[in-house]
Amino acid sequence: MIDQNYSNFKDKGFIILRNFIKDDDFDSICENLKKDILIEFYKLKKKVGGSLMGNLNVFPGSYAKIIFDKLNKKDFHNIIENITNKKFSDFDIISGGNLNFQFKFNQHFHTDSKFNNSFFIINVVTENIYETNGPLELVPGTHKENIPYWKFILKKKKYKILLANRGDILIRTSNLWHRGTKNESKEPRLLLVFILKDKTGDVSKFEFEGNNKPQIFNNFFKTSIKGTIKENLYTRFSYFYLFYRLLRSFFVKKCDFILNLLNSWKKVFDQINLIDDSDSIYKNHKEFYENRHDQSALSIICKKNNIFSLSASECDWAEFSGKRVWIHLNDYPILAKRDLKYNIIKRFIKRQSKNLKRLKKKISNS
Ligand SMILES: [Fe+2]
Repeated sequence: MIDQNYSNFKDKGFIILRNFIKDDDFDSICENLKKDILIEFYKLKKKVGGSLMGNLNVFPGSYAKIIFDKLNKKDFHNIIENITNKKFSDFDIISGGNLNFQFKFNQHFHTDSKFNNSFFIINVVTENIYETNGPLELVPGTHKENIPYWKFILKKKKYKILLANRGDILIRTSNLWHRGTKNESKEPRLLLVFILKDKTGDVSKFEFEGNNKPQIFNNFFKTSIKGTIKENLYTRFSYFYLFYRLLRSFFVKKCDFILNLLNSWKKVFDQINLIDDSDSIYKNHKEFYENRHDQSALSIICKKNNIFSLSASECDWAEFSGKRVWIHLNDYPILAKRDLKYNIIKRFIKRQSKNLKRLKKKISNS
């Protein structure tokens, strides 16, 4: 049985262990957990990031240890050791979960980690998951290669909706593409998670020990203005968001120079505080305005390597001998031209409307 689980995991990136927790008291534990989580949920006074999406992160408090003890048995250790090729004691274990409610939107497909920083995710099903209360949608086999978003979109793929019952366990790698789907039911739906990451010290740590009260906090989106804009784009203008993610994919020539450059960029991602919104560990420069994350890191690396960059304003034509020319872009392989030509009537109307605007501004300022 274990060998079969192992080969399925390798091939698909996940396995489902049906009816794995059978203990008599599991029903009441899950119901109490849900009750306590909902008390915290209804106590939330202001909207936290993820409220529009309908998906919040959960810390299960003391329930984490109670439920983890149901898993922490020889059978389970054997399965984990078979699929990960590591000892169970090689992992630090972090607990969490998410609460899906009032889902108006599907998530966009994503992976839960950068390809080379993957970890294992154990979802413990604490309440039944059916078609309408926001099941996970998995894309089997997509964990095997590191692909950009545009390649994922164009790839031929099969989908698997995870329907499950209380007591089932889903083990997946963070590299597997997946998304949460709309919860169209009236009830918020809870799903518990334990994350297995390579241990950082000599002894394996259980991050959840000693904590009591369940907590709820923001998901992927922060409560800041920037976070709110992101969440709105992600949900209400999802095609815009999809287009934005496609644009973030880029093409480079595969050669030693570029590979070294990309490796230097990749190293920046190992120091996550450089590319997220966490507080800087050093004092900020007096002219610091905001962090542009991985974009800034790439710009600095390009400058260090004498890569000439093309400013966005180079999309405009230049004037030479009274004519529009593009000779300043002769050495670049891709031209993004912005050279709309209007006929004489349209030019006249445009000029007059500009004059009118200028005049209005002048009057309002005087
Ligand atoms: Fe996810």
